Amino acid sequence: MTVALVTGGTRGIGFEVCRQLGRLDYEVLLGARDLARGKEAEGTLRGEGLKVTVLKLDVTSEEDIDRLGELERVDALVNNAAIAPDRDHPDTSALHVPAKLVRLGFEVNTLGPYRICQQIVPIMQRQGYGRIVNVSSGMAQLAEMNGHSPGYRLSKTALNALTRILSDELRGKNILVNSVDPGWVKTDMGGPSARLSTEEGAETIVWLATLPDGGPNGGFFKEKREIAW
Ligand SMILES: NC(=O)c1ccc[n+]([C@@H]2O[C@H](COP(=O)([O-])OP(=O)(O)OC[C@H]3O[C@@H](n4cnc5c(N)ncnc54)[C@H](OP(=O)(O)O)[C@@H]3O)[C@@H](O)[C@H]2O)c1
Repeated sequence: MTVALVTGGTRGIGFEVCRQLGRLDYEVLLGARDLARGKEAEGTLRGEGLKVTVLKLDVTSEEDIDRLGELERVDALVNNAAIAPDRDHPDTSALHVPAKLVRLGFEVNTLGPYRICQQIVPIMQRQGYGRIVNVSSGMAQLAEMNGHSPGYRLSKTALNALTRILSDELRGKNILVNSVDPGWVKTDMGGPSARLSTEEGAETIVWLATLPDGGPNGGFFKEKREIAW
């Protein structure tokens, strides 16, 4: 039995990651903050013959996250759930986005994955195997950092730092931790003009979630190639 946990599996890239891991014969735990939406996604993927089970998981809920510690096995964790908090504000300049929206970005995009890793890594250590994929963004790259959307950018740059911290602490334990930029993908977040389909957006995420032993650790990837932080 090989188990994957994907946060934000109800739609967009997360839903497609659940599908692609299911096709690779993973038992997929589809994380959903809203159980009804999660059930619908589960039903669609089960209808395709995949082993998918919805799991109530709001990444801002300590109660939901604490329950993860009871899972028996988790081979791959995909921290996919995220929000674009600055979008709710008419002016996305760092001079005008209120700190409360930036804080909300950190809660969902950074502290959610942080707390989830604290529950899941001990399970992976017990198994002596784990793959963690933090779904980040090109907007997090310090090398390419531009203005606007501070809530999203700061939270994802911090998520990248989490990748570095955990990959270092877990070095040599066969738990590989990497960040990924899925590219500009047609989803509710990416919008209809985006370049990539969800199938294409999910590809590098699934590759990192299924890396062979000795694969890359502590990197930032796009289209299966390492990119600058
Ligand atoms: N699309 C792009 O072009 C693009 C580019 C770069 C990076 N990314 C990254 O790729 C990932 C997936 O993005 P997407 O485009 O698929 O986004 P999306 O279509 O907006 O979907 C976001 C997912 O996150 C879930 N979510 C939001 N807040 C949550 C919470 N508190 N707890 C649990 N789940 C929560 C949503 O659940 P509900 O259905 O319940 O709302 C939904 O399943 C994100 O990390 C995003 O930052 C996307």
